[in-house]
Amino acid sequence: MNIRSRTPKDDQAIAELNRLAFKRGNEASLVESIRQTNCYIPELELVAEMDCGVVGHILFSYIDLVGQENLQVIGLAPMAVMPEFQGQGFGSALVRAGLETASSLGELMIIVLGSPQFYSRFGFEPSVIYGIESPFEVPEEFFRVKPLKNYQERYRGKLIYPPAFKGV
Ligand SMILES: CC(C)(COP(=O)(O)OP(=O)(O)OC[C@H]1O[C@@H](n2cnc3c(N)ncnc32)[C@H](O)[C@@H]1OP(=O)(O)O)[C@@H](O)C(=O)NCCC(=O)NCCS
Repeated sequence: MNIRSRTPKDDQAIAELNRLAFKRGNEASLVESIRQTNCYIPELELVAEMDCGVVGHILFSYIDLVGQENLQVIGLAPMAVMPEFQGQGFGSALVRAGLETASSLGELMIIVLGSPQFYSRFGFEPSVIYGIESPFEVPEEFFRVKPLKNYQERYRGKLIYPPAFKGV
């Protein structure tokens, strides 16, 4: 398996695998919308590739954190692995590669809405622990934060997702 940044040639495969993994088109459209905004970070759109082609995809993009100071933090969404390749470590490898790249880019923290069991293994903790307010009405354990090396405790507040996320 090889993990690398996305190139435009991957876009059709990325859209298809998002549609297959989520069994709907919302996430494929979300990816395409985010690419058109200034929240997009090319280094943080990654694919997992096998000889047969792209089997996994992950996208991290900027979200506003509004508090005493206004900052940009990183949201992980969406992530998808082709159904027949799930449960073989591709998703975990994509998360780890993304966390490493985000940290090396000097980003502050990663936000995710998702399974506590899956994301806790990478060090994501409920956002309330960090004083970060979820904009979604979900149980606290589903909205998580992973602080990176440049994180500081004073980074608190409410997250405002870009309009691209409406309708997902
Ligand atoms: C979530 C997803 C990307 C994980 O990728 P993956 O390659 O299957 O993950 P890995 O093989 O690295 O890890 C599998 C582990 O995660 C767990 N897991 C996978 N998807 C999960 C989910 N949606 N909820 C809870 N746990 C999940 C598996 O049970 C497994 O646990 P184990 O290691 O204890 O056996 C993939 O299952 C997928 O595409 N799902 C459909 C789309 C989706 O829900 N995306 C995430 C929301 S953005």
